[in-house]
Amino acid sequence: TLPQACDFTVFGGTGDLALRKILPALYHRDLEGHLPPDTRIIGVSRSEIDDDGYRAEVRAGLETHLAPEHLDPDAVERLLGRLHHLCLDSGSGEGWHLLHDLLKDRPHADETVRVFYLAVAPRLFGPTCARLAEIDVVDERARVVMEKPIGHDLASAREVNDAVGEVFEERQIFRIDHYLGKESVQNLLVTRFANTFLEPLWSSRWVDHVQITVAETVGVGSRGGYYDHAGALRDMVQNHLLQLLCLVAMEPPTYVGRENVRDEKLKVLQALKPLSPEDVDRDTVRGQYAAGLTAEGPVPSYADDLAGPETAGAPDSWTETFVALKAEVRNWRWAGVPFYLRTGKRMDRRVSEIVVVFKEPPHAMFPGSEGVTTANRLHICVQPDEGMRLHLTAKEPGPGGIRLRPVSLDLSYADAFDQRSPEAYERLLMDVIRGNPTLFMRRDEVEAAWSWVEPVLARWADSPERPRRYPAGTPGPYAAAALLERDGRAWQETD
Ligand code: BG6
Repeated sequence: TLPQACDFTVFGGTGDLALRKILPALYHRDLEGHLPPDTRIIGVSRSEIDDDGYRAEVRAGLETHLAPEHLDPDAVERLLGRLHHLCLDSGSGEGWHLLHDLLKDRPHADETVRVFYLAVAPRLFGPTCARLAEIDVVDERARVVMEKPIGHDLASAREVNDAVGEVFEERQIFRIDHYLGKESVQNLLVTRFANTFLEPLWSSRWVDHVQITVAETVGVGSRGGYYDHAGALRDMVQNHLLQLLCLVAMEPPTYVGRENVRDEKLKVLQALKPLSPEDVDRDTVRGQYAAGLTAEGPVPSYADDLAGPETAGAPDSWTETFVALKAEVRNWRWAGVPFYLRTGKRMDRRVSEIVVVFKEPPHAMFPGSEGVTTANRLHICVQPDEGMRLHLTAKEPGPGGIRLRPVSLDLSYADAFDQRSPEAYERLLMDVIRGNPTLFMRRDEVEAAWSWVEPVLARWADSPERPRRYPAGTPGPYAAAALLERDGRAWQETD
């Protein structure tokens, strides 16, 4: 239920994430009248600006990041009126009493839900929480929100979780994986469990394999400082792709509750077959984009993108900007069914998609149909064109015998629902305010995902082979195609 009042504090309040995602999301919810009436938004950063200076920055941010038709002057003023700014350094103790005074100095301070959003570097998560405890603003209604990356391996993830866990109980900790807030990702659960016809087919009995692709056309942009220490496996696979895999593979929970969906996802992560060093060599591919020609025109290589002021002198990076791998969920439902995952930057198209490829019909009964592939495929498109497409085989119209032709049943959400799909952050931030953690990653999930990813990181770190170069604007290195060809399969590209 919605609280009466909320103080929403954003550490990193002038940063890119705050201006691009968090504040526009709060604006939309405010526009629709969904924020608690008495909500204040407190931006915290090291910038020496006052409330008005912050309002000006946020106004500019909203004007840049929101579509003009969504900018309602009254709603913008209302949101700006909620804003405050405090200049303080998460690393040092200075200035923290200001936050204490601001949070305590309001009507009904003791009944206000305090949200602390840590949109800062992960090394500051623990220290920031410790300061919040010191200034005595963490009560049982308080919540903390963390962005990924939560650690860079299992041990560091545990450290972060321990440090935050010193101050907040697990029920108060909201770890964001923004993929879980996407409408089409939530719809995956509904598609699977609110329809009867799919579920009986959803197993190794009828499914040949599953493909999960998150392809981006953007490069590393200005995030080289972070990205070069992370790479695609940590940045995308450990979280977004494994979460998608969990939603595809999980067992039906008895109801959609705060713990039981997460319990089922955890079981999937725990059932992932651990990868031995030989498995890593055989079943994973890492790539790095080279200069190439994209729809935007020619673009530089990853190394050249890195050569900004922050990372100058480190152009010979072995960081991967592309990963393809083969995983297996070792349980009754999925034994023997490969899950092929791939993600990359500077690929030829932007698409996030899950493809479930069913087995061929057991018997080819139509004359001339031997050897013709008629396997059904269900494409679940997460973005950019949210929808679903079921590939079937039909008879080509005509009097002369039976000729088989591929056809598709298409569902486009934009056509089916005449309403704006809210951004992932809108849903997730409201869930934080309401105190509903269902769509957030629990500590055990994050750590199970790291446990599975770690042997890959370790093997790659030891390998004398550098990531394979692929020209920007292409589907990634050839080895990714070969990974499937070896198994007699191919990546299903959306047409
Ligand atoms: C983020 C990654 O979590 O997800 C980025 O850090 C990536 O590198 C982004 O670009 C992709 O998100 P979306 O919603 O644009 O698919």
